[in-house]
Amino acid sequence: MTLTIGAPAKINLALHVTGQRADGYHLLDSLVTFTDFGDELAFETAEADGLVIDGPYAGALAAEDPETNLVTKARGALRAHGASAGNPCPPVLIRLTKNLPIASGIGGGSSDAAAALRGLCEFWNLQIEPDALNQIGLKLGADVPMCLFGKPLFASGIGEVIIPASPFPALHLVLVNPGVEVSTPAVFNALLNKTNKPLSLHANLSTIHGLCQWLSAQRNDLQNPALILQPVLRDAIYALSENGALVSRMSGSGATCFGIFPGSQAAISAAKRIADHHPDWFLSATQSGGG
Ligand code: C5P
Repeated sequence: MTLTIGAPAKINLALHVTGQRADGYHLLDSLVTFTDFGDELAFETAEADGLVIDGPYAGALAAEDPETNLVTKARGALRAHGASAGNPCPPVLIRLTKNLPIASGIGGGSSDAAAALRGLCEFWNLQIEPDALNQIGLKLGADVPMCLFGKPLFASGIGEVIIPASPFPALHLVLVNPGVEVSTPAVFNALLNKTNKPLSLHANLSTIHGLCQWLSAQRNDLQNPALILQPVLRDAIYALSENGALVSRMSGSGATCFGIFPGSQAAISAAKRIADHHPDWFLSATQSGGG
């Protein structure tokens, strides 16, 4: 049997850092949505467990020990949970098609882990309550519970407190990464002020107009520290706004930036124009689902 499941990119439309816990993790207030574009995971019955990585960004993971990949860790954590409930969870070969740039602020690793958990629940026929699955996910990474949710949401805490954002529009987006990796801990370390204002109150985010108006008054507090580490990010954000984005900023801890466009044609044309000038940048014109 083979099962295939998508691992969408996670976009932090706004991300405010509001404090820091005693263990060093930062408290966040974020509005998040998920795109059609992403990685893909396929699960196949096998004699022994395996992880095969292909796709455009597989090379960046080639030197990595497969045991350290979040997908392998997710499989191990879920099997331990399943086994404790008497389920055998037999060996499975996982094929990960890596379409998303690595360490790029759009949750590639977290989304892969969430897709592995969701896919393996189905593959192994495990019935696990959402709260229990979130707990398993949270141990793998702070963003895994939001990736398990997979629809527009407000996240707080270190990312694990989730409130659905609904009603919420589908968005036409362009994702841009100027080919640089940014380490999440390095960006958090470069953030000088850890107690910023939370997201401001909002009335109606159900239309693109209302959402963009509100987003323009919000921030990504990690953007300035990331710009110091990788000044080329300024060019990526500028390229998006210059080519018609209603809102453009960095997602997560970078380096991927997003622009919101008024329609799919506008997004596709902007992505083409930016690619003409920067043939070595990662670019994707995609959509996010509504809530
Ligand atoms: O949880 P995850 O492994 O994705 O986080 C990677 C790193 O990012 C953490 O080790 C921590 O340094 C930083 N982080 C943080 N606060 C968060 C999420 C991540 O400081 N809310």
